[in-house]
Amino acid sequence: MDEPIDSLSDSLRPADAELEQSDIRQPRSEDTAVAGCRQQGTDGYFVTYGRNCVIAERVRIGHYTRVGNFVFIRDDTIIGRHCTIGSFVDIEGDVHVGDFVSLQSGCYLTRGVLIEDKVFCGPRIVTLNDKYMCYGRASMKFVREAPRILRAARVGGGSVLCPGITIGENAFVGAGSVVTCDVPDRMMAMGNPAKIVGPVREDQIV
Ligand SMILES: CC(C)(COP(=O)(O)OP(=O)(O)OC[C@H]1O[C@@H](n2cnc3c(N)ncnc32)[C@H](O)[C@@H]1OP(=O)(O)O)[C@@H](O)C(=O)NCCC(=O)NCCS
Repeated sequence: MDEPIDSLSDSLRPADAELEQSDIRQPRSEDTAVAGCRQQGTDGYFVTYGRNCVIAERVRIGHYTRVGNFVFIRDDTIIGRHCTIGSFVDIEGDVHVGDFVSLQSGCYLTRGVLIEDKVFCGPRIVTLNDKYMCYGRASMKFVREAPRILRAARVGGGSVLCPGITIGENAFVGAGSVVTCDVPDRMMAMGNPAKIVGPVREDQIV
């Protein structure tokens, strides 16, 4: 049911997420299971891993990305360069994260999420991909609808992003919001359900 990474269209890929092999530092399994490590290549690149992480074999992480403690990342996830992956982040797999992204502690990224470059996710945001919760119901068909967070958007801590929504480029979501509809580029939304409250200030656009 999950489409492979290579079937995603180019327009859905975070810029530069298709990392060259030379940029990739796979953690050794013994390091990810029990000990912190810093892996350094001959070219000086490194990815820093915290302790007690479980990172699946088919995960690619770009150079200078830092991974905290107790981080779980399932297969077929691509994370770009210069990212911060906070402690207790849980990534379900088949997730694409661009470059210069900050995922604060405890974020939950459900399967299929797309996060573009320079996105900031406050602590403990939750993303959802199964709108009608078909679990255990043969009469229902699972339709994966993972949220997308576009370039340089900011999502406040504790927010819930409902299935299928898109947070636009440079958009801003207030803390604790429940986002049930798309947030257009450069707009601010907040509340439960999140409502558009106005534009993001020009001096905050990157
Ligand atoms: C949205 C935000 C930027 C608003 O800050 P602000 O412009 O200074 O606004 P104020 O605090 O003056 O609040 C203005 C109004 O919006 C409401 N409001 C503020 N934040 C809100 C939020 N997250 N959700 C719903 N309403 C909110 C206030 O209650 C107030 O309502 P009122 O006018 O009826 O009294 C800020 O509250 C926020 O959520 N920041 C995100 C913080 C975060 O998650 N950081 C993550 C890293 S730690």
